[in-house]
Amino acid sequence: MRPQVQIALARGDGIGPEIVDATLELFRIAGVLEQIHFVPVEMGRGVFERGNSRGMTDEAIRTVESCGLLFKGPMETPKGGGGKSINVTARKMWGAFANLRHVRNFPGVPTVYTKAGLPVNFYVVRENVEDTYGGVEQRLTPDVVECKRLISAPGSDQVHRFAFETARRIGLRSVTCGHKANIMKMTDGLFLDRFRSVAREYPDLAAGDMIIDALCMNLVIRPQQFEMIVLTNLQGDIVSDLAAGLVGGLGFAPSANVGRLISIFEAVHGTAPDIMGKGIANPTAVLLSGLMLLRHVGLAHQAAQIENALVSALEQGVRTGDFGDRAHPALPTIEFVRQVADRLGESPKTVPPCPVPEQARASFTPPAKPGDNPRISTFASMKTEIAGLDVYVETDMTPAELAARLGPRAEGSPFRLSMLSSRGTQVWPTGSVFTEVVDYYRARFELRPGATAADQAPALALLSRLGESFTIASYGLLRNFDGQRGYSLAQGQ
Ligand code: NAI
Repeated sequence: MRPQVQIALARGDGIGPEIVDATLELFRIAGVLEQIHFVPVEMGRGVFERGNSRGMTDEAIRTVESCGLLFKGPMETPKGGGGKSINVTARKMWGAFANLRHVRNFPGVPTVYTKAGLPVNFYVVRENVEDTYGGVEQRLTPDVVECKRLISAPGSDQVHRFAFETARRIGLRSVTCGHKANIMKMTDGLFLDRFRSVAREYPDLAAGDMIIDALCMNLVIRPQQFEMIVLTNLQGDIVSDLAAGLVGGLGFAPSANVGRLISIFEAVHGTAPDIMGKGIANPTAVLLSGLMLLRHVGLAHQAAQIENALVSALEQGVRTGDFGDRAHPALPTIEFVRQVADRLGESPKTVPPCPVPEQARASFTPPAKPGDNPRISTFASMKTEIAGLDVYVETDMTPAELAARLGPRAEGSPFRLSMLSSRGTQVWPTGSVFTEVVDYYRARFELRPGATAADQAPALALLSRLGESFTIASYGLLRNFDGQRGYSLAQGQ
């Protein structure tokens, strides 16, 4: 009889099939395949080459959505031609909003920290869906392109709650939020505000925050001070690879992309085209991702047994060519896995073994297909009012010339020109002539003293009037939310 827990399996490109097959062989030997069933799906290079720009077949999408779980090997991102990363698409499309990575050193994988007798062991949670990874980019003028950085309150709440829940479940004592809220006061500011708000739900855990640059320095100088770090998408991308470097590189970096309904388990590294087909790739990262998957479906007993066998093998010098003590031979992928399998039932001697919990049956409830896109929300309703209009103008005029031309155009409207900025720095009415400008200005129109705008019509009327004489690259309405300014000031404003 087929096991009840079904997991979609995409073996990936490059070294993917070699390391995924090796992992499944170990799972078979460890008896895991009696409890879970892998359903192969077509994703990756072969699908792109057949002209499917998503890189996954409809059947693959249906299977992943009905299983709710995907175990995948690395997949190649087509270069040029507008082809998007299938890895990023999958995480975003299925709402796998939290990328969890366990960063720890292993015996047999020497690093500067292990040589100094300093164990490294912490977790990183990276928000996976928002931020600049929204890919909302456009060329505004010949000289300027823009990428929109979107951070939402419910998206932040989800990822913070996941970080605190995970910390509590695995017995950690602290969670640190990394951010740049001193500069990006609205986007990183919201992420940090939501962190502080969610932290109040977890009084048993210490919550702290650190500016991202200081966090990076602290990670390198004293990684032992961190237990769980939660970050926005791009900062999290960079920090989590930095963290992998602290413990021996990408060969030891597993990840789980966890969503409310669908989760994806994969190694952090890519397809390693330089060594594909040689049978020498290190399967550890994909194996460790597989152990995260086993724990996710309740097979913590088997995961702990395999982990103890892996760590025993590593401490005895079992290695592939990319790491370890050269006094021991570098093994091919499949032989590496056999050596791990031979140690099933053993416990490591040089580090504390992973506690092996009681056996339990695999369990996972596949998601019911939502009738429509689920809406997530934090602030149910807020009173908003129009405060002004930012108009982005393409021009080669100087700030003074532009102000002289723009200002009179607002006469008769409730708004007046209050500021010009170039690349975020105010250049009119005050500023420095040392500030370099480009072909793109922001012209800010704000309500005149005592004026109000009942709705957005006067702002749009002004925009339309400006459009008669200026090239408008883009615009944004300025709004207040519950009386609070909902837009940032320019540097120098
Ligand atoms: P990469 O991670 O594939 O390779 C970087 C270096 O690390 C290479 O020298 C490679 O041989 C080595 N390496 C990586 N994994 C290894 C392993 N398991 N054992 C031994 N050595 C290993 O990064 P690269 O070259 O930048 O990307 C190659 C392709 O992979 C690209 O198309 C990229 O888009 C894709 N990629 C896919 C990811 C995913 O599926 N999640 C993540 C990162 C990259």
